[in-house]
Amino acid sequence: MHSIYARINNVSATLSTTIMVLLTAIALSSFIFTGGPTGSVEVTSVKVFSGEARRYPHRRQEYAFVNFNITADLTPLFNWNTKQLFVYLEAEYTNAKGVRNEVVFWDRIVRRKEDAVIAVSGKNKYPFREVSAKFKNSTPANYTLKYNLMPFVGMLTYGEAARVTEPIDFPLARERVE
Ligand SMILES: *[C@@H]1O[C@H](CO)[C@@H](O)[C@H](O)[C@H]1NC(C)=O
Ligand SMILES: *[C@@H]1O[C@H](CO)[C@@H](O)[C@H](O)[C@H]1NC(C)=O
Repeated sequence: MHSIYARINNVSATLSTTIMVLLTAIALSSFIFTGGPTGSVEVTSVKVFSGEARRYPHRRQEYAFVNFNITADLTPLFNWNTKQLFVYLEAEYTNAKGVRNEVVFWDRIVRRKEDAVIAVSGKNKYPFREVSAKFKNSTPANYTLKYNLMPFVGMLTYGEAARVTEPIDFPLARERVE
């Protein structure tokens, strides 16, 4: 009896070691075979409006409205171990108080290789507001197209597909005509 249990134990230990090795190999190989995506981000306009703060009705807060053109070929990120991509546009800048901000204002989930060529001429999907209330005296912002690659096996990886050629200034705020 004892020896049968011992053997089953041994077999399952060997099996799980084999599976671990296999999964690691899959994760590593897909990492190795993953080519780089290519793309471009062009910001066609940035407008800043002053509006009511969302949670504090009597305070003002500034909102940025960004129009952009992006193109990207993310097909190199699709291999047998790619479950899906989370693709997003981010503004990166430092505000007047010296706080570095990374704000995601557009995103898309890509599940199939056929949908991995992206060409979007669009605007914010999510509000882009400055936490300190004003964009005035912020640094110019870099706009970057980034992705998270979610694999079937292994770790989530992050990457950048494109960024604007030059950081872009925030204009002064205008009152919103409602
Ligand atoms: C943005 O892309 C669209 C479609 O590719 C193009 O028609 C338009 O001229 C572009 N806009 C700018 C400002 O480059
Ligand atoms: C914008 O990107 C450039 C080049 O990648 C970098 O040198 C600069 O520090 C960035 N600026 C901000 C505000 O992140």
